[in-house]
Amino acid sequence: MSSKHFILPVTLLACLSLGCGSKEEAETAAAESPKPSELIDKNAVVHGKQIKSVELTTPLNQEWVSKGKAAYEMKCLACHRLDETRLVGPGWKDVTKRREPAWILNMVINVDMMLETDEEARKLLELCLVRMPNQNITEPEAREVLEFMRHNDGEE
Ligand code: HEC
Repeated sequence: MSSKHFILPVTLLACLSLGCGSKEEAETAAAESPKPSELIDKNAVVHGKQIKSVELTTPLNQEWVSKGKAAYEMKCLACHRLDETRLVGPGWKDVTKRREPAWILNMVINVDMMLETDEEARKLLELCLVRMPNQNITEPEAREVLEFMRHNDGEE
């Protein structure tokens, strides 16, 4: 048998048994994500745009807080707790105190860019060992989640 015919099945087998990254994670994310066509379009927009600054206002916008909570429950709760417990990702308690608002928004909408280029994001990846998947979230949605995070950290 030629080596060509041998190597392919062996590589495939190794891939299957080692998992080639996290298959389950990918499946969970895929189940919750919109269709690939939407994903491609949104990624194109999202990757082109880095958030430089965010203006926070007090008191909190309560409508955003409740929309942000709903988004959290749908798209983030599987991996993030609201206290300091680390699940797949870090717990959110005090996240608005340890991070700049723009950093948080970029982590939510530009996570791939952050994991490539941002020192702090890379440290988190080393700690958690799982890449946070792109949640396919729009900028306004991410802003609402940030408002909910501020609420979770005791702001009013
Ligand atoms: C499949 C699991 C998963 C989901 C779902 C997920 N994240 Fe994450 N998140 C992570 C991981 C893991 C990290 C740490 C960085 C890394 O390893 O990629 C992280 C890090 C973060 C951080 C930085 C936390 C810190 O302590 O600095 C923020 C902010 C964040 N995620 C927001 C979100 C938001 C908002 C959503 C929902 C829209 C979400 N994440 C959904 C896994 C997830």
